[in-house]
Amino acid sequence: MDFSAYFLLTILSCFVLLLCLILFSDGDLTLMLKEKFGVPLDSARGKVYWVVGASSGIGKELSYQLAAHGAKLVISARRELELEKVKTGCLAVGKQAGLVDSDVLLLPFDVTEVESHQEHFDSVLRHFGKLDVLINNSGRSQKAEFQKIDLRVDKDLFNTNVFGLVNLSRVVLPYFLAKAQGHIVVTSSVAGKLGAAFSATYNATKHALHGYFETARSELYTKGISITMICPGLVYSDILTACATENPEEQLGGTIGEDEKRMKTERCAKLCAVAIVNRLDEVWISLNPVLLFLYVCQYAPSLGRAFLSRYGVRAAIKTRGKRDAGAPRTLDSSRSS
Ligand SMILES: NC(=O)c1ccc[n+]([C@@H]2O[C@H](COP(=O)([O-])OP(=O)(O)OC[C@H]3O[C@@H](n4cnc5c(N)ncnc54)[C@H](OP(=O)(O)O)[C@@H]3O)[C@@H](O)[C@H]2O)c1
Repeated sequence: MDFSAYFLLTILSCFVLLLCLILFSDGDLTLMLKEKFGVPLDSARGKVYWVVGASSGIGKELSYQLAAHGAKLVISARRELELEKVKTGCLAVGKQAGLVDSDVLLLPFDVTEVESHQEHFDSVLRHFGKLDVLINNSGRSQKAEFQKIDLRVDKDLFNTNVFGLVNLSRVVLPYFLAKAQGHIVVTSSVAGKLGAAFSATYNATKHALHGYFETARSELYTKGISITMICPGLVYSDILTACATENPEEQLGGTIGEDEKRMKTERCAKLCAVAIVNRLDEVWISLNPVLLFLYVCQYAPSLGRAFLSRYGVRAAIKTRGKRDAGAPRTLDSSRSS
């Protein structure tokens, strides 16, 4: 065999190895490496994390992960009753790590009420005397056809998924900058990396988060501020309950069926925690084939787009068909402040 044949064989073997690694992973390869060899979760001990969107799903499990490793927590969302349960859970899992009642602060608020943000941040500082990491996790999903979406839905979702979180981060930033140290985490989504069918506004809000926070990273990195963008794929959570449709007065309702192929919330939260303590810039957390597809979209975007336009609608209809079995419900007033 001549040199060029060896060279080609080596390239091919590397490619196959990489493909196998991706196919047997549930997160991008850097994240997988950090999970095994990176900064351990115990480094969260004693630090103060503010989890916004902690009353259910990923935020709730992430709070448990951090509490189990001795982190102090501020937990926020609109539903105070749910937050109380999360606090009880945090204290239970954090008992061995020495967590006591005052280490978990309940701070219920609606992230869209931006004028209250400074006051809430002041309460965090009053209680703990410091904040180490702000986790912008709250968000609302959507299922709707692009051309039918009422502009009021676009505005509502941008207020919740983008402007509320951007404003809260801007409120916290002067404090981080003053101590030349800080960390802002943002839960985006795989939907923030590509244009999956039937969620135009949701996708747009997640793309917008990348626009805002990647720019912030460019401006703030040298000033000691880290930004971590977390992009989960399909994960079990309560996300469908308040899921928007094309009508402003409507939400999809329903729960995610146990038969659906989604990542377990606990696993997603564990990987989020790994990404956070290792201060990674961007992580992808997903089962396959979505993870592999993300790699295709990143490194061969034209191929990714061609695939998405050809098969994306079919895939979306497959999941959407199940949802449409239940009629959308009017807005749940228990979730508004
Ligand atoms: N599950 C998935 O498949 C998936 C995939 C990719 C990305 N994500 C993202 O992950 C994040 C967490 O979602 P999840 O899946 O865990 O769904 P979830 O269980 O519905 O959690 C959403 C959280 O956001 C809070 N929230 C919503 N609107 C709020 C508001 N106006 N003010 C304050 N808090 C608000 C909710 O609390 P209250 O209702 O009590 O306010 C809840 O704690 C979201 O950003 C979502 O877009 C989820």
